[in-house]
Amino acid sequence: MSEPAAPAELHAREHAAFLEEVHSFEFWFQSVEGYLQDHAYGEDPDCDAPEVSGDEREPLVATLATYCVGETAALEGASGMIGFAPNRQAKIFLATQVVDEARHLEVFLHRMRELGVEDPEAAIGEQGNRSLFAFKKKLLEFVEAKDWEASVFAQNVILESMEFAAFSGHMKQADTRTATILGGVLKDERRHMGFGENDLGRHLAQAPHARARLGEIKKELDSLVLGTFEESLHAMGMPRSERPEVGRLYLEMVSRLGL
Ligand SMILES: [Fe+2]
Ligand SMILES: [Fe+2]
Repeated sequence: MSEPAAPAELHAREHAAFLEEVHSFEFWFQSVEGYLQDHAYGEDPDCDAPEVSGDEREPLVATLATYCVGETAALEGASGMIGFAPNRQAKIFLATQVVDEARHLEVFLHRMRELGVEDPEAAIGEQGNRSLFAFKKKLLEFVEAKDWEASVFAQNVILESMEFAAFSGHMKQADTRTATILGGVLKDERRHMGFGENDLGRHLAQAPHARARLGEIKKELDSLVLGTFEESLHAMGMPRSERPEVGRLYLEMVSRLGL
């Protein structure tokens, strides 16, 4: 008869089974079914598109263009990371993330068309936030270098936290259709953040020296994130009093890794 497993080994096995489950397409299907089934382009089929006044349209289009920059960064980042992810579960999870990010890009492009933008691609190039373009370039450099630790951190912690904070803030003041779309996207972003926190949490427990390096990367990227917020929230017309709240939510989310 074999020896019963030691508690630590049992815990490791249970944890591996847990990761296998939450990183699977099965888990993904169950998660998205409730809010994507019958919701073409993430919209509520029972609600008509509300009128968006002339004053509100331009800032909303610029905001959506900026969201498209972030979603394209995550789409290209996550797909590139599959090639050098450290294990199969991570590759499968990233495949689900690629699908999510492509969907996010698609729904934001669709919303821009609904608002009368004939060439959303051109609008992204013209109106997308410059600091976020710089962030995207930096993220894709990490991916190009097959630098797993930096890529997961920049994408699944920093970018996801930035989006989470921005979408949550925007949802409170957005028209009902945009708010519904953002609500569905946020549910996906929460999963992506969970992956980053879990992966890096385990990595930092085994390689505490990585903490200093990630802290340096954070310093560099924070300025791009806060720069994006400053310009975008102003352009979006968010009251000055509410803007620090978005930055604070971002910093709070990133600090959960203790960096
Ligand atoms: Fe996304
Ligand atoms: Fe995401």
